[in-house]
Amino acid sequence: MAPSSSSKTVVITVPALILSVAGAVIFLFFLMSSLSYSPPSCSCPTGSTAQTSQQQQRHQISATPEDIQWVKTQIEVNGLHMQDNVLRKGINPRTRAQQLQDLIQYKGISHYEQEDEAKNHTSLPCPNELLVEEHHSNYGEPWAGGRDVFEFLAESSKITPESRVLEIGCGTLRVGLHFISYLVPEHFHCLERDELSLMAAFKYELPAHGLLQKRPLIIKGEDMDFERFGSGFDYDLIYASAVFLHMPDKLVWVGLERLVDRLKPLDGRIFVSHNVKFCSRLGGDECSKRLKSLKLEYMGKHTHDSLLFNHYEIWFEFRRFKL
Ligand SMILES: C[S@@+](CC[C@H](N)C(=O)[O-])C[C@H]1O[C@@H](n2cnc3c(N)ncnc32)[C@H](O)[C@@H]1O
Repeated sequence: MAPSSSSKTVVITVPALILSVAGAVIFLFFLMSSLSYSPPSCSCPTGSTAQTSQQQQRHQISATPEDIQWVKTQIEVNGLHMQDNVLRKGINPRTRAQQLQDLIQYKGISHYEQEDEAKNHTSLPCPNELLVEEHHSNYGEPWAGGRDVFEFLAESSKITPESRVLEIGCGTLRVGLHFISYLVPEHFHCLERDELSLMAAFKYELPAHGLLQKRPLIIKGEDMDFERFGSGFDYDLIYASAVFLHMPDKLVWVGLERLVDRLKPLDGRIFVSHNVKFCSRLGGDECSKRLKSLKLEYMGKHTHDSLLFNHYEIWFEFRRFKL
């Protein structure tokens, strides 16, 4: 009798079923692996890593541990030790006062006798007091501390050479010089009231450091008037290094009020050194209220160690929180 079936029955045994499922899983595994293939790993930086290291380079302004080790090694391999600075062949140590006296008395080995003639040969005659750098001893702490301040502020505010920076009370450019050197032309601004400090800045520091071409905008004034700095741009960083503590509190608040709209919202920073007594002296929570009314937010207190001497600077950070 012929099978009367209209439908054919296919019988699959259990082992065959297991084998087919396993085969399908293995096939799928290889298919997925080939689809998600990535090139063999290499030590070359990926896009994002390269970007990060570029950013690190941009913000790496202060000396790295490797830099410090390098200089220590240089001193060691040259067998150098600190020595007394006494008269020796070709080296005639003078104090600033003695050097100033020498300049007045002897002027140097080769010099033009007549004052008019001297001016003909010297495009930018500099007063002797500035030539002997008397103004480097104006602030109680070593002049080298200016570099520490720059490094701290530049790194904390993440500025780039295109950023715009305003210093209130830049004095003799102890700090400002480093900003001017770092920034593109015209991007460093300063309001300073002391005439002798400004003379030191213009007649000695800028030309002596080859920074005239950076055209910093340095304006004499003491009333927190920033109109003359122009408009149509935001500052990335506004700082007052050892200045607000010498100003009447009222004037500090006037300044902040005028500056807040000139500060880049959110990313821009105001840094104030030493203390914020202009704030705390208001008492209670008046300071917070006043800051808030100006759209300013207190971001915290920082300390920064000097690289060269046992000293740290205290900084208070603010930002503008509204657009
Ligand atoms: C201790 S010095 C600091 C100078 C500079 N910021 C630095 O760190 O090297 C203080 C400076 O603030 C300046 N200053 C004080 N009151 C000022 C005011 N109302 N407007 C502008 N500058 C002022 C002083 O003339 C002086 O140059």
